[in-house]
Amino acid sequence: MRNLKNPQSYEPELLEDFYPNDLRDLPKLPNAQPERMGNKKAPAKQMEPKESEAFSSSSMEDIWQKINDVPKEAPDSQGERKEPGKPLQDVRSFAGVKAGLSEEMPHALKAYDKAVSLMRYIMSFAGERKVYTDGLETVTHELISSLLRNQDALLCLPRILQRGSYLHTHCVNVAILLGAFYLQDGHGADEVKSAVLAGIFHDLGKGLLPPALIGSRKSLTTTEQAMAKRHPALGHTLLRESQATLPPVVGMAALEHHERYDGSGYPQGLAGPNISKVGRLAAIADTYDAMSSRRPYKNALLPHHALGVLYKKRGKHFHPDLLARFVKMIGIYPVGSIVELSDGYCGLITGNNPGNPLQPVVTLVMDPTGQNMQALECNLANGEAADIIRCLSPVETRIDPYHTILSNGKPSEDPDPFLHVFSQSK
Ligand SMILES: [Fe+2]
Ligand SMILES: [Fe+2]
Repeated sequence: MRNLKNPQSYEPELLEDFYPNDLRDLPKLPNAQPERMGNKKAPAKQMEPKESEAFSSSSMEDIWQKINDVPKEAPDSQGERKEPGKPLQDVRSFAGVKAGLSEEMPHALKAYDKAVSLMRYIMSFAGERKVYTDGLETVTHELISSLLRNQDALLCLPRILQRGSYLHTHCVNVAILLGAFYLQDGHGADEVKSAVLAGIFHDLGKGLLPPALIGSRKSLTTTEQAMAKRHPALGHTLLRESQATLPPVVGMAALEHHERYDGSGYPQGLAGPNISKVGRLAAIADTYDAMSSRRPYKNALLPHHALGVLYKKRGKHFHPDLLARFVKMIGIYPVGSIVELSDGYCGLITGNNPGNPLQPVVTLVMDPTGQNMQALECNLANGEAADIIRCLSPVETRIDPYHTILSNGKPSEDPDPFLHVFSQSK
């Protein structure tokens, strides 16, 4: 067999030799009917977004209203195998006590780094057509525990502290997003664990692709794109054929996370309720993380802007209700975002008001003259500071979100605080 880990062996014209039959071989999911939307009536009520809509501060209230107006997800969930989850209390029992954001951050970072290390093994073994599961239980447990103590720490960590290669961190980031969503949705312990595992393994198929293709800094050729698009089927096949004992949703997420609500995705072109719930949610989490992560060939979008791009695809690429609930979970102004207020003060979002996401908690750290100031936490919902007018990047403000959170708002004494924000991938 060809050495798939060796970039020198990558010969696009020989793709069929590498992966024969992996697509023809796909098993049908329960109730799956790979029809495209054009062949039948739309499967669910859709919103028709106007392309001109932007997710700018000026239209924020309007968008928030629309998110609240989205009809709740129909209880279809075809393709989703219901698992006998334990009551939510069982999850909380191993989590420890609730913690403040700065208090939880070091624990979240430890759990995150351990998960990224595990991903290196998982991807490396995938290249040998093996599914590596050692340490999975511990990593899953620690991620969920951190989410339960204070979910904002793990949710904002990948956005304010980029470390490790995208291939590995992306899978952990998607696992965190899926786990947090399932917790928010009130799922039981087994289902939350399954969701985290689904995120960890969703891009397993990339481990079977040549590293030169995955790490490419230039646009892919048509042949290369076709090869890259095989990773859902490759990952699904590897999971199915392995001896690993993993819940069914793991395979579903691997196979369906590039399917789109309107049937325009791949590999099967499934639409609407023919995509499982975990597949629909993984599509949202996968796209959000891809847009808001720095890549070799592009800068990261601010999380606020990434949510705006997702929002414009509601009802087209993404399930409207799931997307609305995803945005509510992340917050219109995600924790860790740097914002400017109408009176010129700048600060960091350090908490969300779920019922009033347009007016979150801001820790002010810079006065209108651009000078550092004694940190001052203000709950905008209580009128403690002016309104937000825009989101800023760390480069624009010289505010280091990670250190600001860790130090509870004290200015960093690090001579190069941005080392932590923009450190090169390992
Ligand atoms: Fe993928
Ligand atoms: Fe992905």
